Amino acid sequence: METHAWRVENPHGRRRVLVTKELPGKRWREILIAADCRIEIGSGQAPLEAVAIQAAMGTRCHGVIGQLTEPWGEALFGALAAAGGRVYSNYAVGYNNVDLAAASRLGILVGNTPGVLTEATAEMAVALTFAAARRVGEAERFLRSGHFQGWLPGLFLGRLLWRKTVGVIGAGRIGEAYAQMMVQGHKMNLIYHSLGPNRHLEESVAAYNRFLVNQGEVPLFCRRAERLRQLLQAADVVSLHTILDATTRHLLDARRLALMKPTAILVNTSRGPVIDEVALVRHCRRHPDFRVGLDVFEDEPALAPGLADLDNVVIVPHIASATRWTREGMAILAASNVAAVLMGWPAWGRPDLSTFLAENNPPPAAPSLINAKDLNIPRYEP
Ligand code: DGY
Repeated sequence: METHAWRVENPHGRRRVLVTKELPGKRWREILIAADCRIEIGSGQAPLEAVAIQAAMGTRCHGVIGQLTEPWGEALFGALAAAGGRVYSNYAVGYNNVDLAAASRLGILVGNTPGVLTEATAEMAVALTFAAARRVGEAERFLRSGHFQGWLPGLFLGRLLWRKTVGVIGAGRIGEAYAQMMVQGHKMNLIYHSLGPNRHLEESVAAYNRFLVNQGEVPLFCRRAERLRQLLQAADVVSLHTILDATTRHLLDARRLALMKPTAILVNTSRGPVIDEVALVRHCRRHPDFRVGLDVFEDEPALAPGLADLDNVVIVPHIASATRWTREGMAILAASNVAAVLMGWPAWGRPDLSTFLAENNPPPAAPSLINAKDLNIPRYEP
């Protein structure tokens, strides 16, 4: 088993903050140091288990920045509260690894890092869409293994997506950004499925259609599918952008996969368990023209047996948000959440967090506290 060493920065800081993994950039450290924090940073690669985190928190720990690979539930929040802690920030926008109710019950404020991941994640969904459509993984393996003998008319024929239909499941920030890229970049018709209508998205497509018509081009359609079935049956590409909770676990199971076109492309940059991965392997075996691009997996880092052997599946190791700017931005937001709570500052409460990324004078507020309301944290009033 890997042993976990902890590196200390600003050893004389009055407040003890644990950061369970090294984070990119240096601004996040400056933010914590300005809040008089001693920072202890975990240096291991493997995800930390609860016992290791609990041992590291010990009897005195004021705040933690943790990872989506860690089980932040009753036990860890209890240990943090007992150590005098008040705040935990996930280094992620998603927080399906966090038991929010337990945190609120124990008086721990929970932060996350929305906004900075939107374009990076949407870009990776686009990259996986085209890698799957144009068989990039397969073709690269063929080339690297010395099989390329020269240009051929029928070599690795893929699928043209231009003016086909993209289906977006979950039209929040990332789903909308992906939809805009596919509509305005690749002239795809759009069907989306979400809890409510996304007016901004619909108006953007309408504005783009006015432009197309002005250019003498055929407009695209954009509609919200009331039922998931309608989207699955109509779409040439389906991209998942939902949160993971009890209502979305195995949202795409064998029955729903069977509703999709046998030549469809399925992309997942949300959370692995949204797809029943065993059913997906079976489906891909039966339908070699069905193509898949995955950034996330049901039981990370393990893959369902057979998944990695499938030529019609492109896989990358949960790196959708992995651009330097994004990951440094996530670190700044996570550190700002922790520092603000320790300083007794209010919660920001607006969707635009870009002011926290600017070098100068970020507001004295916590950018994104998910349970601020439950714990009666006042909102920042400039
Ligand atoms: C998140 O923030 O939820 C992402 O999965 C990390 O890339």
